[in-house]
Amino acid sequence: MHAVVLVGGFGTRLRPLTLSTPKPLLPIANVRQLEHLIAHLATAGVTHVALALGFKPEPFFQAFPDGVCAGVQLHYAVEPEPLDTAGAIAFAARDAGINDTFVVMNGDIICDLDVASLVQFHREHKAEGTLHLTPVEDPSQYGVVETNSEGWVQRFVEKPAPGETTSSVINAGTYVLEPSVLSRMPANQKLSIERVVFPQMVADGTLAAMATSDYWIDTGRPDTYLQANLDLIDGSRSTILSSVAPHCTIDSSASIAHSVIGEGSTVGAQCVITDSVLLPGAHVGNRVRLERCLVMGVVGDDASLTDCVIGAEGHVQPGHTLSGEKIPSPELAS
Ligand code: GDD
Ligand code: MG
Repeated sequence: MHAVVLVGGFGTRLRPLTLSTPKPLLPIANVRQLEHLIAHLATAGVTHVALALGFKPEPFFQAFPDGVCAGVQLHYAVEPEPLDTAGAIAFAARDAGINDTFVVMNGDIICDLDVASLVQFHREHKAEGTLHLTPVEDPSQYGVVETNSEGWVQRFVEKPAPGETTSSVINAGTYVLEPSVLSRMPANQKLSIERVVFPQMVADGTLAAMATSDYWIDTGRPDTYLQANLDLIDGSRSTILSSVAPHCTIDSSASIAHSVIGEGSTVGAQCVITDSVLLPGAHVGNRVRLERCLVMGVVGDDASLTDCVIGAEGHVQPGHTLSGEKIPSPELAS
């Protein structure tokens, strides 16, 4: 089976980390997010993945130079310009020659959905498209979905205004689509699947949806990206990955709790690191305190950081105490 994975977004909410690395290539517990996602699709019988690429395609070519990821054959579909979600799916599906039932996944989702059961639900309903749904506490930042008891979508509202819908069940970003959906998406046209195509399918009564309550997270924000990392090292999920990458240098007097230490990073003497992620190449000096931080750059001696995001170009001066800061500031990014 073929799948299209959407990986062309700008990753704006994860800046400054995404200034140097596209969101799907950021590691989650030391494995690139895209590898987690494609390995998961492979368990459901996906053999070919078309990557819907736009912004910064080169790092993807470099990450998978033989065009294979988790045993799955990759097809790189590079949009001439950002085409939004439906435009990107249509471009990639046509570019890869997809002409049978296929799966689509947002590239910033980590979940335990049994994708094969979504495909089965789709086939049983003879639907044109089928969404995976998940319950969330605050649905305002998602596509909110209302269904009937037979599993047909009655309403799809992307990023609803307060009071617009009472449903707290959201589009979880994995779809099964028939190739006929492509006829709703003219070639090379910027189009949103959530704001245009899904509401049209709802009006035609052809969009089904299956809700599950298993593990699901959108890693697109600093707090959820951090959470996705920690969930994979502390036994919150069925898989437990090592919290420390093989090639890193940690001083023996450093104290590290509930944190991920990435490939090639260094941690100096008497550091205290809690609930944090050091990304590949991070350099943390001596006596540094980190709490709930994401660090790619350099943190000088005696600095103390809480809830901070330090990008590859970020450099925290020795002795500084910071809370809730992003360095370099994403606003300064062009
Ligand atoms: N190729 C390409 N081109 N990909 C794109 C483009 C584009 O122009 N725009 C966005 N994407 C990709 C992003 O990289 C991401 O993988 C996916 O499309 C969804 O975009 P996000 O920007 O992450 O959207 P969101 O998180 O606000 O909302 C989406 O996901 C929610 C679940 O996490 C929607 O699908 C919501 O309905 C859904 O609830
Ligand atoms: Mg997202």
